[in-house]
Amino acid sequence: MDFFKKLSKSGNKTQGASSAQESKMPKTEVHDTIDFETPRPDKGDVKRVTVLIVGAGSRGICYTYYALNFPKRMKVVGAVDPRASVKEMLKLMHRIDEDKYFDDWREAAERERFAEAVIIATPDRLHKDPAIAFAKKGYHILLEKPMAVTPEDCCEIVNACKENGVILAVGHVMRYHPISRRTKELLDSGVIGDIVHIQHMEPIGYWHFAHSYVRGNWRNEEESTFALLAKSCHDIDLICFWMGNRRCVKVSSFGTLSHFTKENQPEGASSRCLDCSVEEACPYSAQKVYLKKALRGSFGWPVSVVCSNGVDDIESLTDALKTGPYGRCVYECDNDVVSNQVVNMEFEGGQTAAFTMMAFTRDLGARKTTIYGTKGELRCTGGGPIQVFDFVTNKETQYQAKIVGFMPMQLSAHGGADYYLIDSFISAVANNDPSLIISGPDETLRSHLLVFQAEKSRLENRVVHIDKDGQ
Ligand SMILES: NC(=O)c1ccc[n+]([C@@H]2O[C@H](COP(=O)([O-])OP(=O)(O)OC[C@H]3O[C@@H](n4cnc5c(N)ncnc54)[C@H](O)[C@@H]3O)[C@@H](O)[C@H]2O)c1
Repeated sequence: MDFFKKLSKSGNKTQGASSAQESKMPKTEVHDTIDFETPRPDKGDVKRVTVLIVGAGSRGICYTYYALNFPKRMKVVGAVDPRASVKEMLKLMHRIDEDKYFDDWREAAERERFAEAVIIATPDRLHKDPAIAFAKKGYHILLEKPMAVTPEDCCEIVNACKENGVILAVGHVMRYHPISRRTKELLDSGVIGDIVHIQHMEPIGYWHFAHSYVRGNWRNEEESTFALLAKSCHDIDLICFWMGNRRCVKVSSFGTLSHFTKENQPEGASSRCLDCSVEEACPYSAQKVYLKKALRGSFGWPVSVVCSNGVDDIESLTDALKTGPYGRCVYECDNDVVSNQVVNMEFEGGQTAAFTMMAFTRDLGARKTTIYGTKGELRCTGGGPIQVFDFVTNKETQYQAKIVGFMPMQLSAHGGADYYLIDSFISAVANNDPSLIISGPDETLRSHLLVFQAEKSRLENRVVHIDKDGQ
């Protein structure tokens, strides 16, 4: 009876329905605004850490900007890279002594230790041997992800670091993303009760996938590694980070290489985009992905990767697109890594997680996460804010991440996580305190082993049970 009275008071049914819905809609409260942390250089530890860079490509160079911005904390004293153009650039940036440039990591590893730490940012298949050699020489190590391309090699690296008493940080930058860390704090504070399920999605971005995983460095498993390890070991690692001490006990996975195969090449397409008559209708055309961006004056990533001679101008770019890998038709490449993969996980205690890696997305890198708990639900897309809905109060609260007041532009990628990673590593070495690192050997090994098990499940088409040793 009361229900009908309420309806008649509201005048008409549509209005009544909408105001009833409105009264049930949660109100959003803004819990905290963006909080500026004091940058680490002001925190007192002023010991300068000397660093050798092994592999001075995109990642290796990026970390060296920390030394330029915070010269009292880090100095680059040596570099290894076979590319002459890179050496010239480093020489200008860091004034490294002439005898501390090397073409190959072995030459540097044969010398007496001349730096406290080494940053290893060589291609994926060139991580294990330098990591072990430099650990034996007593260098503290920042090793790019993935640690290595087999479970055995990952274990060997961890053992070598432990046996030689050196600090190991792995380039799992997503753990250092201010939003990931804030999410972890919220989960640990019990804001959604006990975690029941994590749903996490990584949108790679359609043209980014074509750039890196069809034409570029990570396109072919033999040359680098499988896509889940190359691209998403970050994300499986994040799920483990949020799940805390719980161990994953079962995993299943499916994935395929969709679309980027010879059968899908449009009629009339050429092998190279610059002389293709149907490129206008192709979203992956190298003219769109690189040339048009450069013509607008944008020579940053991904264009910078294409002009590998170190000269960023339209002429070099056009030459590279005519002859190099990035001008190839995406339907005629030697790519074999999957474009879409799902991973289902069950953790000790029954918690579950579902991860999706997807090439065909408009968004690039802005992860979408929903974490379901016994008392609430936490949602976040990309850089936040984090939205927490409380089942008891029926209220939604927004949380922001903490960020530093000064973030060097060159270290601001991955939501500033590049800065936090190198800052944590340098602080850990300066203070001889590995606890300052949140991507250390044990947790990184655990999540890497899980990635290998997920891939095993995909390849063997079965659920894989995982023991205490991650096997
Ligand atoms: N943490 C992240 O978010 C992230 C992002 C991208 C790449 N990565 C990883 O970082 C690593 C480097 O990637 P990148 O994008 O900088 O690649 P890149 O190709 O730009 O850099 C690799 C560099 O290693 C150099 N090199 C090759 N052989 C060498 C040798 N024998 N000794 C010393 N140097 C050598 C190359 O000349 C090149 O400059 C890869 O393992 C990659 O998967 C991590």
